[in-house]
Amino acid sequence: MKYVIVGTGARHEMFRSALTETYAHSNELAGLCDTNAGRLALSAGRIERQGGNGVATYLAGEFQQMLREQRPDRVIVTVPDYLHHDYIVAAMRAGCDVVTEKPMTTDLGRLKAILDAQAETGRSISVTFNYRYTPARTQLKDILLSGAIGEITAVDFRWHLDRVHGADYFRRWHRYKDKSGGLLVHKATHHFDLLNWWIGSTPAEVNAFGRRTFYTPEMADRLGLSAHSERCLTCPLAAKCDFAMDLRDDEGLRELYLENEDSDHYYRDRCVFAGDITIEDTMQVGVRYANQVSLNYTLCAYSPWEGLEVKFHGTGGELTHRHVEVHGVFGGKRQKPAGEGMTTVLHQAGKPPAELEVWHGEGDHGGADPVMLSYLFDAEKTGPDPYNRQSTHVDGAWSILTGIAANHSMAAGKAVSVDDLLNANGIHLPRP
Ligand SMILES: NC(=O)c1ccc[n+]([C@@H]2O[C@H](COP(=O)([O-])OP(=O)(O)OC[C@H]3O[C@@H](n4cnc5c(N)ncnc54)[C@H](O)[C@@H]3O)[C@@H](O)[C@H]2O)c1
Repeated sequence: MKYVIVGTGARHEMFRSALTETYAHSNELAGLCDTNAGRLALSAGRIERQGGNGVATYLAGEFQQMLREQRPDRVIVTVPDYLHHDYIVAAMRAGCDVVTEKPMTTDLGRLKAILDAQAETGRSISVTFNYRYTPARTQLKDILLSGAIGEITAVDFRWHLDRVHGADYFRRWHRYKDKSGGLLVHKATHHFDLLNWWIGSTPAEVNAFGRRTFYTPEMADRLGLSAHSERCLTCPLAAKCDFAMDLRDDEGLRELYLENEDSDHYYRDRCVFAGDITIEDTMQVGVRYANQVSLNYTLCAYSPWEGLEVKFHGTGGELTHRHVEVHGVFGGKRQKPAGEGMTTVLHQAGKPPAELEVWHGEGDHGGADPVMLSYLFDAEKTGPDPYNRQSTHVDGAWSILTGIAANHSMAAGKAVSVDDLLNANGIHLPRP
């Protein structure tokens, strides 16, 4: 299978090394594309085993030329979220299949463009929902499928982003709603996809509340940081700010961003307390699913720990999972919990609660990324997936519709019907 990648920032590195190292025996990376010549050159130079003349590089304006010259089977899209649709549509219209990072896109207009192009071309889109592949979360699917808690009736789901990871969404393009869809699309697409997959349904009605209350100019004042600069590199208060990021300290960030910022002014270390941020940091969403399951969801971007808590209520009992990825975050300092920090408790009605042995894996995102990559790049050898984890454009669309509907609900101050939103935008989407 022949691939090209568009967007050579932080995330593309996983795909590049999978194609040129782990799965090089059955795949070829033929081209790389980006607006930033420095990041392109850095990526091309990192490829260890290059055949022939190496991997061709193209600036963004040469994307069509790359497709004509390299004739890839699949295009991998790892540009910022608000640009996904442009490349997904162009790749499919040129006869290629697409592998795209999440979220598939950020709003209804862009979603319609993708779905229309997919229907016209018949090409396939895979959305890389690595969270489905985390062994502990696959185990929850396994337990729910077994019927151990009977019919699922309601779910409580809370995701905590700590003050290192959470703050990072307030530094660059993610912090603008028109570029990322806000955290209910950009981040929660993972969570709402997990919920669609676990529950086996899709969102029907959404009611949301959200505001920015922590990463604000007022908080900077309270912390004595009123005189902060636009970015940490030039900030006179960096030494006393728990949220300061020094791009010079981290080799990866320095090479990827600091050394390439002259051409595009992409500053990776903008102040998290800036006044022009347009996304929320505190969000709560209520969802009624098409199969009548109801959900309470919370996302907080400044927690003193990072991880998730989920409880499934069922006609036959409860299933509860807690994963503490990091705890003890004071300002910017993190501490890993001892052991894996994961517990799963099955409490069937009439029986005592049972703490189950949690499934584990090795590798990034709790062991998720290597499993996902083997299905993506070595499907024949990996075999069929009993948990049906590979995601199409239909899964990608449903995973963002909860967050998009939540954005509409927050703007309108009332609950919104997902079918009404789809109909108003001429979008026809099957409910799986
Ligand atoms: N699944 C996950 O766990 C996960 C983790 C991180 C990021 N992501 C996703 O991966 C994508 C990329 O994130 P990132 O952190 O690598 O971002 P990034 O900003 O580090 O990289 C984006 C790259 O796209 C390039 N770019 C910008 N505009 C372009 C254009 N018009 N044409 C071509 N290239 C352009 C930039 O120069 C940059 O090199 C995002 O969609 C993000 O949501 C997913």
